[in-house]
Amino acid sequence: MSKDINILYISLSGNTKYFIGKLTKYFAEHEITVNAINVKENPEPTKLTAPFVTFLPAFLEGGNGVNNGDREILTGRLGQYLDYQDNFAHCYGIVGSGNRNFNKQFALTAHQYAERYDFPFIADFELRGSESDPERIAREIIYARAQFENQPVGE
Ligand SMILES: Cc1cc2nc3c(=O)[nH]c(=O)nc-3n(C[C@H](O)[C@H](O)[C@H](O)COP(=O)(O)O)c2cc1C
Repeated sequence: MSKDINILYISLSGNTKYFIGKLTKYFAEHEITVNAINVKENPEPTKLTAPFVTFLPAFLEGGNGVNNGDREILTGRLGQYLDYQDNFAHCYGIVGSGNRNFNKQFALTAHQYAERYDFPFIADFELRGSESDPERIAREIIYARAQFENQPVGE
């Protein structure tokens, strides 16, 4: 099993991309290589065969995210990438991000994807993340990957 961490993500205004950069540096310090695909830069889906983690910032219509305003905008291409040839089956979890000013809608799209595709919601972070976020999220990712790899086939 490869020790690399594979990431599928979308970053429209650069915050998530910046965070992936910090995470990549953290992993590199622990001799782990990160391979990341930003769907904004690579919109044409390819078949993914190795386990990966998804990162998704929230872009939703206005509203409160409870009774209304929970409709995803702008990031649907990531969903298309996950759907392509059942790529989602190799995803061991999702990390959500957003802006806490959106209150109940904070990181909501990633929660919606976790439910839709039935993979674990690993963690969330705000905007470009805090100084301690790369380590916290790296640990969560390693844990989620181990859980996924230990799952008996068919469960
Ligand atoms: C039109 C628009 C809608 C947004 N909606 C939400 C939202 O519903 N919930 C949330 O937590 N953040 C929301 N955000 C904030 C983004 O998720 C946040 O800025 C994120 O870090 C963007 O990631 P990116 O720079 O990698 O694209 C919204 C931002 C924009 C521009």
